[in-house]
Amino acid sequence: MSKVILTGDRPTGKLHLGHYVGSLRRRVELQNEGDFDRMFVFMADVQALTDNADNPEKIRKSIINVALDWLSAGIDPSRCILFIQSAIPELAELTTYLMNLVSVSRVQRNPTVKTEIKMRGFEGQVPLGFFCYPVSQAADITLFKTTVVPAGEDQEPMLELTRELVRRFNQTYADVLVEPQIMLPERQVARRLPGTDGKEKMSKSLGNCIYLSDSKDELWQKVRSMYTDPNHLRVDDPGKTEGNAVFTYLDAFATDQDFADFLPEYPNLAELKAHYERGGLGDMKCKKLLFEILDRILAPMRERRAELEKDIPAIMQILKDGTAVARETAAQTMSEVRKAMQIDYFG
Ligand code: TRP
Repeated sequence: MSKVILTGDRPTGKLHLGHYVGSLRRRVELQNEGDFDRMFVFMADVQALTDNADNPEKIRKSIINVALDWLSAGIDPSRCILFIQSAIPELAELTTYLMNLVSVSRVQRNPTVKTEIKMRGFEGQVPLGFFCYPVSQAADITLFKTTVVPAGEDQEPMLELTRELVRRFNQTYADVLVEPQIMLPERQVARRLPGTDGKEKMSKSLGNCIYLSDSKDELWQKVRSMYTDPNHLRVDDPGKTEGNAVFTYLDAFATDQDFADFLPEYPNLAELKAHYERGGLGDMKCKKLLFEILDRILAPMRERRAELEKDIPAIMQILKDGTAVARETAAQTMSEVRKAMQIDYFG
């Protein structure tokens, strides 16, 4: 069986560090390892519209921002197929058929969707398209016969549903679709990065994000004002590292090499944490370290972005070419789907 990797991002704004540690960093590694038959990365604009129906300008503008984020983070269009979801009508077609194979109550049980409904204040008036997006996501994944989806932990319920739908489809009609696996980030803490305010999740609507495109100055301002331990008032006080956003970020990003380069008086994060917990280590020192570590990641992205921004039409062309390639696969799978469902009336 061939190995097909696929992931998507909702183009609702610039990508932030949560996206980076949750999925983008892994994607770039997977791409560079090259151990796959095909790799797809796409703009989930149809999904973005399910809760932004009245704001198409935002989605349109974000397509370019997200493409710049991908390319500056190292996604390489000569190795990955980059495409736009709405330009693949086969996705809508497959979604329609998959919807017949799942109950309303099954979709209602999805914890990620439940949280999102609360966060958006949709209770009692959830747009039907939004409610159904997990099924549409199952179509995104299965249309390309995806075997591996690198994603954060919040995507697990979608993958579970997708696997159920694949089994239902194949049992009911014929063995056409393929069951995918999720590939979670290796570092446990990277599975869900909190915001700079220490709140559960980095999210644009909460205003607690560090964007991949932030300037050096913006980065420092955000790190400087990050949430730490509110009871760590004086340097000599013992501090908590648990629930302390600066340390959560260090958990997600710091390597021993970073310590050697930026703070050689500590061999590793464990020693830094121990000192903080004992007392005698100030927040500022930890924040400066975090800033250096993050800037080492973001500075090359900033540079590449500045180059890429000079030729936006070239970026649109990359998306257009990738979409044409993706559509060929989409058409192939859909002809198998129609045949399996006995709706291939005209041959
Ligand atoms: N739901 C994903 C997110 O919110 C985006 C997405 C849509 C996706 N379709 C996908 C991710 C298919 C992986 C595979 O980020």
